[in-house]
Amino acid sequence: MTSTQPKRDYTIIAIDGPSSSGKSSVARMVADTLGYTYVDTGAMYRAVTYDFISSGISLESDADISTRLSDMTIDLHAGDRGQEVLLRGMNITPYLRTPEVNELVSEVAAISAVRRRLVEQQQTIGTTQHVVMDGRDIGTVVFPSATLKIYLSCDLESRVDRRLTELVTQGQDITEDEVRENLMHRDHIDSTRVDSPLRKAADAILLDNSQLTLQETHDRIIELLESRT
Ligand code: DC
Repeated sequence: MTSTQPKRDYTIIAIDGPSSSGKSSVARMVADTLGYTYVDTGAMYRAVTYDFISSGISLESDADISTRLSDMTIDLHAGDRGQEVLLRGMNITPYLRTPEVNELVSEVAAISAVRRRLVEQQQTIGTTQHVVMDGRDIGTVVFPSATLKIYLSCDLESRVDRRLTELVTQGQDITEDEVRENLMHRDHIDSTRVDSPLRKAADAILLDNSQLTLQETHDRIIELLESRT
């Protein structure tokens, strides 16, 4: 019998879910345990957003977007404190989570030309190494034949708490209501956009981590992987 699925030489763990559901923390931890490369695809969308903001282009102009994308380079490196992002050779990691980027990133991630550019790069990364990749469309679009697909959900109030703690720790002056509003705004855009909306892939395993610690979520993913391989 012939298979329509391409043969995959590397293990791919796809972790999708809404903003602040804890994807990045658990994906990084699973990657560390397994010795795999961790790829935070949200950071790539944030890098493009930073590029568009700093160049001052209009998101209404397809021509300007296409020009910016045509010579854009995004390189990912494992740094001491997690994934580092070089945009056009410059380390912009500290600027990826500013209020300005948070405000615009969902709009930028809804642009098909941006998605095409980043999905291609993400797929290329998965052809040369074992990866744990987190995002919104990894199991549905980037790696539909991933070894293991997890859809990580978490209730809104737990996500607000986690996000607020993260931003306040970074020194940002932001209220709980502002965090809730931003998360709900991004959830809405991410799940209703036309191109690659946030969805659980039919064959993804739903894991609700509202009541789980990071360690418990990690252990569950490792168990699921072991039961597959
Ligand atoms: O995970 P994050 O909050 O850093 O993601 C930033 C934005 O990028 C978020 O609005 C959703 C979008 N995104 C996406 O559309 N597809 C991905 N694979 C990853 C992120």
